[in-house]
Amino acid sequence: MSNNRVSRRQFLGYTLTGVGGFMAAGMLMPMVRFAVDPVLQQKDAGDYILTDQAVADLTEEPVRVDFAYEQVDAWYTSEVTSSAWVYKEGDKIVALSPVCKHLGCTVNWAADPEHPNQFFCPCHAGRYEKNGQNVAGTPPLGPLDEYEVEERDGFLAIGAIQVNTLV
Ligand code: FES
Repeated sequence: MSNNRVSRRQFLGYTLTGVGGFMAAGMLMPMVRFAVDPVLQQKDAGDYILTDQAVADLTEEPVRVDFAYEQVDAWYTSEVTSSAWVYKEGDKIVALSPVCKHLGCTVNWAADPEHPNQFFCPCHAGRYEKNGQNVAGTPPLGPLDEYEVEERDGFLAIGAIQVNTLV
């Protein structure tokens, strides 16, 4: 017979500790799950945003296409509006980000009368070729980013932003 007998007082202590721990875990688990839930959610990286721009209306002249999408930031969902400069090059649809690679101002197509076939940034006179290549000697140090695009039922859909593949 063993001398390691558990006293009634010890047994009660172990039991209460076990039950208390179990109850605490039951209360804490939903709170922890709620706290980390946004981190665990899968992002739909391949999602495209449908615009109201008919692909048939696109030409070789860049046009500004505005679009909006919901942005989920942890528990906060907001509607974000953005735009792209879109044109056709043969059968290919090109969509460039309007965000200047110098300090982030918005570039416009043909806004500088001296360079009518370029994108122009009004903040510091940055310029880009039609394919987004930054013009040497102007402040931007890199080309405009490019959006992935798709045609859906005749309309333009804008996808993820990526580095410019045209330059
Ligand atoms: S922010 Fe565009 S040139 Fe400076």
